[in-house]
Amino acid sequence: MRLSHCHNCHDFRTLARRRLPGPIFNYIDGAADDEVTLRRNSESFERCDLVPNVLRGVESVDMSVTVMGQTLAMPVYCSPTALQRLFHHQGEHAVAAAASRFGTMFGVSSLGTVSLEAVRKAHAGPQVYQFYFHRDRGLNRAMMQRAKEAGVEVMMLTVDSITGGNRERDLRTGFSIPFKLTPAGMLQFAIKPMWAVNYFTHERFRLPQLEEHVDMGRGAMSIGRYFTEMLDPAMDWDDVAEMVRHWSGQFCLKGVMSVEDARRAVAIGCTGIVLSNHGGRQLDGSRAAFDQLAEIVDAVGDRIDVMIDGGIQRGTHVLKALSLGAKAVGVGRYYLYPLAAAGQAGVERALGQMRAEIERGMKLMGCTSVAQLSRENLRFR
Ligand code: FNR
Repeated sequence: MRLSHCHNCHDFRTLARRRLPGPIFNYIDGAADDEVTLRRNSESFERCDLVPNVLRGVESVDMSVTVMGQTLAMPVYCSPTALQRLFHHQGEHAVAAAASRFGTMFGVSSLGTVSLEAVRKAHAGPQVYQFYFHRDRGLNRAMMQRAKEAGVEVMMLTVDSITGGNRERDLRTGFSIPFKLTPAGMLQFAIKPMWAVNYFTHERFRLPQLEEHVDMGRGAMSIGRYFTEMLDPAMDWDDVAEMVRHWSGQFCLKGVMSVEDARRAVAIGCTGIVLSNHGGRQLDGSRAAFDQLAEIVDAVGDRIDVMIDGGIQRGTHVLKALSLGAKAVGVGRYYLYPLAAAGQAGVERALGQMRAEIERGMKLMGCTSVAQLSRENLRFR
């Protein structure tokens, strides 16, 4: 299978699986415990149907949205994800370039493999910086200061990961940073030599967002230990309120799932929330973000930008989320499989397909702008 044969997320996943060593593919593809939430994320979009209107004069459609103070040419952004250089040697540069080309936001993860500054320098477009809350408050402030200096537009604090999820696929393969592979895991690398050639002939693997502060790269600290030793499970709303004040710009919480927490996010001055269960990778059994969307939009949608991610793989999923009141949606694996399959060309092809699907879907729904999508166009089964 080649890139030109990839017409949807499923095709990209198949190609990524062929190209990546098993432990890396499973790190992307997998989720926590029994992966119930991972499955629910996709299923949630099938529990409601679109009700189109016809004969509305839809020659051209405008799918732009304004969210977190940024105008996006399409209502889909690339959610922050870790370790992208492991998936393809172009890493974050590929995703940032593709996002910029499609006029949308890209979230650089604090576990990213290209620095915030390098992404800012090389690519136009609004930049999101996703970070975690550390026990060391000085470190939190230093990371925010660095983001300010780098010109980051949106700070995104991930609040659903105060401890690492139980990713059993990774336990089985031995996937960790630094690598500590099981014999079966090592064999999986041996049978994908092209991946190894690309990986070792390009820039060295680094975690530049953290290396300045933590001795990660030389094997002193694994990502598992980073989560358990450095992140602060005692973090509470007062801590976040202080960060929001300190940042004094667009600040959003990623991983909010309850109405109560959404109200608290408003109360402490956040400008956005992302309803998310981290792609099913944290609390297995947690509800799909799409299923929580209506009640959270009803409670706070007029005071804060509500976004969602999890399981979005089609333009029609995006239309359903926007119809319920989301301002924009994030995708993770949707761009990671194409990244692994073909780098920047893969991510651009996937975003192009998403844009075409949204445009076609809006026309078939009888809408010329996102504002015309409403709950009138949705029925739950
Ligand atoms: C993630 N996600 C994530 N989130 C975050 O806040 N910081 C991170 O570093 C990562 N890293 C990460 C790695 C990989 C491989 C995946 C698949 C996901 C979660 C991500 O931002 C998003 O919430 C989910 O990916 C959304 O679900 P879908 O689109 O993958 O179904």
